[in-house]
Parts: sequence; structure tokens; C-alpha cells
Amino acid sequence: MSCLRITLNRQDLTTGVGFAWVHAADYPALHDTCSRVLHVNELAYYQRVPAIRRKTSFLIGRYAAKQALSSLVHESDYTRIEIASGIFQQPIVKYPSPEPLGVSISHTDKYACAIAFPLIHPLALDVERIDRVSVKAMKSQILPHELQTEALARLPEPTRCAIIWTAKEALSKVLKCGMMSPFCIFETMDVSQEPDWIVGHFKNFGQYKFHAWVLDDHVVSMAVPKRTDIDVDLSTLLHDSLPIGD
Ligand SMILES: CC(C)(COP(=O)(O)OP(=O)(O)OC[C@H]1O[C@@H](n2cnc3c(N)ncnc32)[C@H](O)[C@@H]1OP(=O)(O)O)[C@@H](O)C(=O)NCCC(=O)NCCS
Repeated sequence: MSCLRITLNRQDLTTGVGFAWVHAADYPALHDTCSRVLHVNELAYYQRVPAIRRKTSFLIGRYAAKQALSSLVHESDYTRIEIASGIFQQPIVKYPSPEPLGVSISHTDKYACAIAFPLIHPLALDVERIDRVSVKAMKSQILPHELQTEALARLPEPTRCAIIWTAKEALSKVLKCGMMSPFCIFETMDVSQEPDWIVGHFKNFGQYKFHAWVLDDHVVSMAVPKRTDIDVDLSTLLHDSLPIGD
């Protein structure tokens, strides 16, 4: 597990956000201490859920979210922070902070990651494993020209698909609609390669851009307001985040 505080800069605003990354291999240790991690309402849900896969994603996701939030509010008692689910399943931070806060959570079988931010500055993220098996499903929701940009040309097809897919999922989370809306509205454009990440824009949501990092066999994308500068290399975080016991 690992946590990083990131500074975002806009012409009229400088603000800190917290990013955290938890390995699924940490799940047994977190399960043993879950009453010290989860708010009482979260704990009641966690104990009700029968499926181990959901138990794992919920607990490591909530832990990542609380690490990210506590880097902003300096709360060491995680049971005081509740992350409830809204009517569209979006995460709702319940914590008496001076400034209203938001969080965005994503998980795969191997990791959970979360970003915490002041609600005046919306953000969201998505993580996916780069997986040849998912290519067909992803391509069914990606227009051919989105994959054929010069910036992505040298990457293998599963990586290209994961970048565009996670960018779209991150946008759908920042908009709170999730992927229940037609995928075509999340169309990406103007994708370019920076030294440590990929940047792109959205045809129908000009106020947002995305940053994508290829981290080992995963891609993390963040949907970020277009005029915000975010300068962070997440790959250092991944390499610092060996599971407990490694
Ligand atoms: C949101 C969505 C894109 C997530 O994608 P995913 O690849 O399945 O899952 P991820 O691991 O990346 O993200 C899951 C997290 O996204 C967040 N999330 C779920 N729905 C969300 C929404 N509408 N807006 C923002 N974030 C959302 C949650 O925090 C969730 O984790 P949690 O359940 O542990 O709290 C997808 O689940 C979706 O399209 N959901 C539809 C939401 C919806 O309309 N629900 C209505 C039901 S009444």
C-alpha cells in the first residue's frame, strides 16, 4: 500500500489531493483489522456481503479511499470516516471536514486505488488490468479512430484499449452517470504522449481531459478539469507498493 499527496495547479487555485494504492495481497491483514478500518455502517455492509471477491474489493477500496482522504484531513482513526454509496452507487464522503471532500475509487483483482479531492475541484479515476481477453469487449465500445492515434501507435492493442477504456470510465465517474449512458458520448480525441503519461481530451466534454499511466500490467486513468496541471509520475508509487510481507 502506498499513498501520495499531489498538488494540482490552476491559474486561480492550488489544491492538494491524495492518491492511494492498495495491493489485494494486503486483504487478509486488512480483514483481521477491519473493525479499525471501516465505519460502523461500512462494517455492517462488509459483514453482510457473502462473496469474497466483493468483500475484497470493498475493503481494499475503502482502505485506499481512507488513506487518500487522511492525507488531506490527517485523521488517523479511519472508523470516523464513512464512505457511503449514493443512489447511483457513487462514493459519498461523510466526515466533518472544514471543506467538503470527494473520493473516487477503482479496483481490479490485484489492486484498489483511490483519489481524494476537495469537491470544488472534481476528479475521478479508473484502473484496469491490461488483458488480451478483454480486448474484444473493450473494442466494441471504442471507435476505431480512437485506437489509431499516433500517440498510441507503438503500444500493444490491449494497452491501447485499456487506456481509452479507463479514460472513458473515469469520465463516466466524474459525471456520476457511470457506464449506463451510451459509450459514444465519452469519445476521446487529441491523445498525446508525454514522457511519463498519456494525455487526451473528450469530444463532448471539453471541460475535462484525461491523464493515463501505464503501470506494469495495469493502466490508471484520471479525468481531470482541462485547465488543471497535474504533474505526477505514478510509476514511482507502484514500485514502492509491495504487498505486506514482501
Ligand atoms: C461506475 C462504473 C463505471 C464502475 O466501473 P467498474 O469497472 O465496474 O468498477 P471500478 O472498480 O472501476 O469502480 C467501482 C467504484 O466506482 C464507484 N462508482 C460506482 N458507481 C459510480 C458512479 N455512478 N459515479 C461515480 N463513481 C461510481 C464506486 O466507488 C465503486 O466502488 P465501491 O462500490 O467499492 O464503492 C460502473 O460500475 C457503472 O457503470 N455503474 C453504473 C452505475 C449506475 O448507474 N448505477 C445505477 C444503479 S441503481
